[in-house]
Amino acid sequence: MKKPDRKAWLLGAQVICTDPPQPRLDPPWRLVLLGAPGVGKGTQADLLCTRLGACHLSTGDILRAAAAPGSCNRTPALSAAVDFMHRGALVPDQVILDLVGERGRCLRCCGGFVLDGFPRTVAQAEALEAYMKREGVQLDYVFNYELPLNEIVDRLSGRRVCPGCKAVYHQTHQPPKKAGLCDKCGARLLIRDDDQPETIRTRMKVYEEANRPLVEWYRAKGLLVNVPAYGTPEEIFLRTWTCARD
Ligand code: AP5
Repeated sequence: MKKPDRKAWLLGAQVICTDPPQPRLDPPWRLVLLGAPGVGKGTQADLLCTRLGACHLSTGDILRAAAAPGSCNRTPALSAAVDFMHRGALVPDQVILDLVGERGRCLRCCGGFVLDGFPRTVAQAEALEAYMKREGVQLDYVFNYELPLNEIVDRLSGRRVCPGCKAVYHQTHQPPKKAGLCDKCGARLLIRDDDQPETIRTRMKVYEEANRPLVEWYRAKGLLVNVPAYGTPEEIFLRTWTCARD
């Protein structure tokens, strides 16, 4: 199945998809993925978007694209946001809401969307709800991925990412075909700046504090689906699909 083009929304709000998502469900699904740093949200978002023909919107990827050397999208607010990200702290809500708001077209995508890393606070969830109400669309599911901490740390410490096309690998669980090089675009793989042990500890603490109220907020709305995140990415994807269909 062909993957939708993800470059457009990474490059900026004004860029149009050259290969727009093709909807495969009628009506399309609109999903939010929750879970600790490194639990595998990005990996699942990729699988879900390929299956659904949906738009994958990751606020972390947008921030990392803005942080990349030579990025021309770096406003003062984004520079401050990148600094928060490098420390493992949450970026202020308003900066994130502006970033997502600029990509309103992605939220109106005919294939639906998979939000990965947004919302992260109740204030962001309320803003998303208000936006969707104005557009006359609704969320279908909020998948909350759960995994013991030691396995999450293993996933994070072996992660390698492609600075070009944003593909994600793991040294042992999902290695590239040629060591150190991206299968898709050949770029040299990197360790993410915020995957250093000290920053991982901060990210976990920040996650614990912000996620609990968010989970409760979505549970009260009847949208929350807990998904155990053990096993291979394909097994977790099938579990997600089955949980939604049950
Ligand atoms: P963000 O990019 O959203 O990071 P995160 O939530 O910390 O999540 P990660 O991207 O680290 O992990 P993931 O769950 O996507 O796992 P992945 O699929 O890569 O945010 C980064 C920062 O930006 C935040 O800390 C914050 O500062 C800021 N930010 C972003 N959004 C914000 C917001 N809305 N508000 C405020 N601030 C915001 O997988 C991890 C590894 O495991 C990979 O190596 C992968 O290959 C491997 N793996 C995946 N699945 C499996 C499996 N089943 N088995 C074995 N290995 C696996």
